[in-house]
Amino acid sequence: MVKVVVAGVGTIGKRVAEAVKKQHDMELYGVADVSQTGGLRTVLSEKGPLHGTHLFASNDEGKENLEDQGFYVEALLEDRLEEIDVVVDCTPPGIDEKNKENMYEPNDVKAVFQGGAPDDIAEVKFNADANYEEGKDEDFIKVVSCNTTSLSRTVSAADEEFGVEEAVASLVRRGGDIPQDSRGPINSTIPVTEVPSHHGPDVQAVMPELDIKTMAVKVPVTYGHVHMVNVELEQGASIEEVKQAFRDQPRVELVSAGEGYDSTGKIHEKMRDLERPRSDMPEVAVWEETVKVEDGTLYWIHMVHQESIVVPDNIDAIRAMFDMEDKKTSIRKTNEAMNIE
Ligand SMILES: NC(=O)c1ccc[n+]([C@@H]2O[C@H](COP(=O)([O-])OP(=O)(O)OC[C@H]3O[C@@H](n4cnc5c(N)ncnc54)[C@H](OP(=O)(O)O)[C@@H]3O)[C@@H](O)[C@H]2O)c1
Repeated sequence: MVKVVVAGVGTIGKRVAEAVKKQHDMELYGVADVSQTGGLRTVLSEKGPLHGTHLFASNDEGKENLEDQGFYVEALLEDRLEEIDVVVDCTPPGIDEKNKENMYEPNDVKAVFQGGAPDDIAEVKFNADANYEEGKDEDFIKVVSCNTTSLSRTVSAADEEFGVEEAVASLVRRGGDIPQDSRGPINSTIPVTEVPSHHGPDVQAVMPELDIKTMAVKVPVTYGHVHMVNVELEQGASIEEVKQAFRDQPRVELVSAGEGYDSTGKIHEKMRDLERPRSDMPEVAVWEETVKVEDGTLYWIHMVHQESIVVPDNIDAIRAMFDMEDKKTSIRKTNEAMNIE
């Protein structure tokens, strides 16, 4: 069993820790943090999903903080690294780099980093659908951001079936996550003035052959980004063939506006009605009415639930690093354990 610690129990970390706990071939050895923020108290509480999980402190100051806040701290993370196979580092940008330098490298512990980490933190930028094999036996992997994950999944599905010559995507990004009070409310649409935006090169980090350009704006919502995508196909495809390629992608779901799911809010409500934990949607939702092919150009619009989409890829990154399974098996195992259909 691969022993995993998740460092940084915030939006991404708490979800990854729960997903690790649900797998049969890895063990959640513990979580590490420095303070009660991010829902740590709730998830470790008696009724919380991580109740009974060992809590480590990432540094001396963090240990003091956590103990002052009433937590029982098992040990400093650094003192237990010998017993751990991999840390999934979900700490904020900047901390991840320091952790690599001060803890993971000197103690020979593998680590998975997140989308906000600098690109040079790991040679392999990872998306399970697009480049699982490249993660094999790596010591450090960076799972790409939520936006990049959704584009990698959908564009790779089209590329595998029909070939993609060129892609253009316009991104409408959520202003902040629900608990990010510091980011809102904003009463504006804010353009990302770096044009093209960094999202295109981010996708190229996992699909280097892809010619892709992106632009982005930020809007005052908390649940979901929306992407409008056009791709030039190398070979002809019918709308039905494209929809089938999306259906065959194990983490893409077609949703129908005609069936009532005609906005991100309605998809959010669908997840709530299905009693998905935290109304998470780790799949990319493609609106099927928006799938069109005209003169060799394929169009679609999809939604990305930013807080959960990267969680399954973190699990697959662990399996790739330890060469535990091939891509298909890993994705199937992760999906089954997380109830991704
Ligand atoms: N949120 C998203 O939608 C999203 C989507 C995809 C990828 N990502 C990426 O995922 C990473 C984490 O983002 P997030 O949104 O989950 O952040 P977050 O909610 O702020 O969570 C980070 C957690 O790490 C804790 N922390 C700070 N220093 C630490 C240390 N030295 N050791 C252990 N824990 C520490 C923070 O505590 P304090 O609050 O006390 O500092 C916080 O609880 C970033 O790279 C981000 O870009 C985020």
